[in-house]
Amino acid sequence: MTAKRIDGKAAAQGIRDRIATEVDAFRQQVGRVPGLAVVLVGDDSASAVYVRSKARATEQAGMQGFEHRLSATTSQDELVALVDRLNADPAVDGILVQLPLPPQIDEQVIITRISPDKDVDGFHPVNAGRLAIGLHGFVPCTPLGCLRLLQAELGELSGKDAVVVGRSNIVGKPMALLLLRESCTVTIAHSRTRNLPEVVRRADIVVAAVGRPNMITGDWLKPGATVIDVGINRTEAGLVGDVDFTSASEIAGAITPVPGGVGPMTIAMLIRNTFVSAARREGYSYEKSL
Ligand code: GUN
Repeated sequence: MTAKRIDGKAAAQGIRDRIATEVDAFRQQVGRVPGLAVVLVGDDSASAVYVRSKARATEQAGMQGFEHRLSATTSQDELVALVDRLNADPAVDGILVQLPLPPQIDEQVIITRISPDKDVDGFHPVNAGRLAIGLHGFVPCTPLGCLRLLQAELGELSGKDAVVVGRSNIVGKPMALLLLRESCTVTIAHSRTRNLPEVVRRADIVVAAVGRPNMITGDWLKPGATVIDVGINRTEAGLVGDVDFTSASEIAGAITPVPGGVGPMTIAMLIRNTFVSAARREGYSYEKSL
């Protein structure tokens, strides 16, 4: 049996189209469009590619994009001053400062400076705390996109065994909390986990977010498992995930490819969070399933 290939690109396009329709209705009622400010410090080439696709998606959804490109030598004070200006700007509903930042800037200082109500990345401690205790807030885009793919694939997730491999603040930890919110039995595995293949083999749902090319192979999987591969690893063989797609496809029930799986969903969720931010700020009611 070959696993179903989960088409993240198509799912993301569907969501972006729905949001474009919502943005149009928002504009007619509120008299402005949602705005997203994206800040890139330095010239990391991968970050530049991400920022460009975020800007393109913003425009395609009919929203206003504000791009700020700062030099690699920007000081922390200068970046803080920009964040303060964006916090105060009524046309800006979402603020995203692309990570990683250059070494002279403390990422936590910047993340904490962004107004929690414009934190469409969901990285602010207030939003992380809201997710942890079950309050409304902003959820990080990548794990939210993974959850949407899982729900589209499996429907109800309640009672399923989920293993999240990786414990980062951006993906692993919020992913585990989202799966817990959906009443999964959640295990967070990481580099110190003993018998990792055995742990992964228990899972109905595997989310891989470790950054090690092709680490998870087909023999680690429970037959029929749903596998979400968050890894984006640049190797000599090109872009590969954390899951060995070829062997995993023979055992899994469904699996996301790299590229074309999680990546497009991350951007769709950023657009979604920006729209939701604008709607909340304006007291505009929107389709909750968005
Ligand atoms: N760097 C890698 N992923 C992300 C993300 O989702 N948001 C931001 N701001 N930076 C990132």
